[in-house]
Amino acid sequence: MGIDEKLAELEERRNRVRQGGGPERLEKQKKAGKMTARQRIDALLDEGTFVELDAFAEHRCADFGMSGIRAPGEGVVAGYGSVNGRNVAVAAQDFTVIGGSLGEMHAAKITKCLELAKKMGIPFVSLNDSGGARIQEGVDALKGYGEIFYRNSIYSGVIPQISVILGPCAGGAVYSPALTDFTFMVEGVSNMFITGPQVIKAVTGEEVSPAELGGATVHNRTSGVAHFWAADETQCFSMLKTLMRYIPSNNLEDPPAVEASDDPNRSDESLRDIVPAEPNKPYDMKDLINAVVDAGSFFEVHQYYAENIIVGFARLNGRSVGIVGNQPKVKAGCLDIDASDKACRFIRFCDCFNVPLVTFSDVPGYLPGVGQEHGGIIRHGAKLLYAYSEATVPKITVIVRKAYGGAYIAMCSRHLGADLVFALPTAEIAVMGPEGAANIIFRDEIASAQDQKAMRTQKIQEFRDKFATPYIAAARGYIDDVIDPRDIRPRLISALEVCRSKAESRPAKKHDNIPM
Ligand code: HXC
Repeated sequence: MGIDEKLAELEERRNRVRQGGGPERLEKQKKAGKMTARQRIDALLDEGTFVELDAFAEHRCADFGMSGIRAPGEGVVAGYGSVNGRNVAVAAQDFTVIGGSLGEMHAAKITKCLELAKKMGIPFVSLNDSGGARIQEGVDALKGYGEIFYRNSIYSGVIPQISVILGPCAGGAVYSPALTDFTFMVEGVSNMFITGPQVIKAVTGEEVSPAELGGATVHNRTSGVAHFWAADETQCFSMLKTLMRYIPSNNLEDPPAVEASDDPNRSDESLRDIVPAEPNKPYDMKDLINAVVDAGSFFEVHQYYAENIIVGFARLNGRSVGIVGNQPKVKAGCLDIDASDKACRFIRFCDCFNVPLVTFSDVPGYLPGVGQEHGGIIRHGAKLLYAYSEATVPKITVIVRKAYGGAYIAMCSRHLGADLVFALPTAEIAVMGPEGAANIIFRDEIASAQDQKAMRTQKIQEFRDKFATPYIAAARGYIDDVIDPRDIRPRLISALEVCRSKAESRPAKKHDNIPM
């Protein structure tokens, strides 16, 4: 065979792989409202940058009639390319090839990609659309999953790993996304569950549809398994590209900075009135966040889950920061099990990847309730204390209004290592709210008063006037300054600037033992 024939053969082999499961199955994928694996890669990567690896991989399974079955690309398109001009490794499962099922060689392509990402210090993006373990390959398929999980785990905190669920993701397959940093899901397209509706019906008798069990809405709102919800695949890729702009390629780099789009010294008049002086009046903490950060830069993570706490990325003077804030509009901004889990995971991501943390605290305490206690708020709540304490990235806190008790400590107080702590004049830093405090410490006086109601009101006011202010904490140096709300932005930017040279280390250890 001369070179022309050899080149023709190469082209023919490549074409065969590019056609995936063939026109019929590609049509079925389209009819299901789904992009193909290659279209997804094109939607994600900068145009013309994709370089495919292992296109010619082939399975070596001969059982259950597999010897006669060709599986172009082994049901996964893998390689590298760039997103917003920065390199990433990517693997996209191809449902048109044996249902995107994962066998030995399919898994080997993914693990090679993960290894490439780790070696080169670039993010790994996994586009999941698969019927799970390739049944015909038995334990070799299980081995494949195990080897992916192993790499997801040991590369955690080294390179960002992002999962996008774009079809079924069932059984043990769900654990790769669960081990990665962020999971995206698309309404009407994605499903994730350990055991599907049929198994559940057989075992527990419960009847549930796939979407109700593990669709995009349920995992974004109820379980917290997914961090991002998208209406369709196009929006999903656009959100993913936005996320990538805030995070570095690996744990040794800083996040990419952009040209500042907003005046760093902007003093925002609206901030004077966003936070109500009345301690129990709800307001939207997102209004405050949006007024403070670079215009339009707030990008929320876990938007629909545990809405009593807000987490997300933003920019201050062009630099990426991680924002954590209580949300007084939901459950009065109390900390509960889900809020602690949500914030802890986000704080740890930021600390792994050199994203400074900015915390806005307005928290009346931990949510009371038997359900919370029996659900383990003690160990879940501990995660928040732990995550803030272990974080060595710059930590800047603004106490906006209420900061009571253990929740005051947990929201990145000075005592957990905050580098700079500011309070607004509306801040109330105390062991508990004036009502609770007055009821306890003035119990006898209130009980013996002729007009108990009037006495209670008077004592609550006395307590509020004396203790529910930022000035006692300021007198001890627990906060560094009481600031005008209009100046939050310039104060945060200058604080981040002074923290740029921060270098803090922790005692040497094999690894930590975070409460779970
Ligand atoms: C082999 C599979 C497969 C699998 C799908 N296919 N899943 N082949 N192993 N796991 C094949 C189908 O036979 C079919 O082949 C093609 O892929 C498309 O599948 P359809 O069933 O036609 O598609 P659809 O109707 O859209 O249904 C999708 C599905 C269904 C819901 C995912 O295919 C399904 O239930 N698959 C089995 C899921 C499962 O039980 N997986 C194992 C889970 S256990 P043809 O030739 O007809 O096109 C697991 C353990 C992992 O994953 C443990 C890790 C620790």
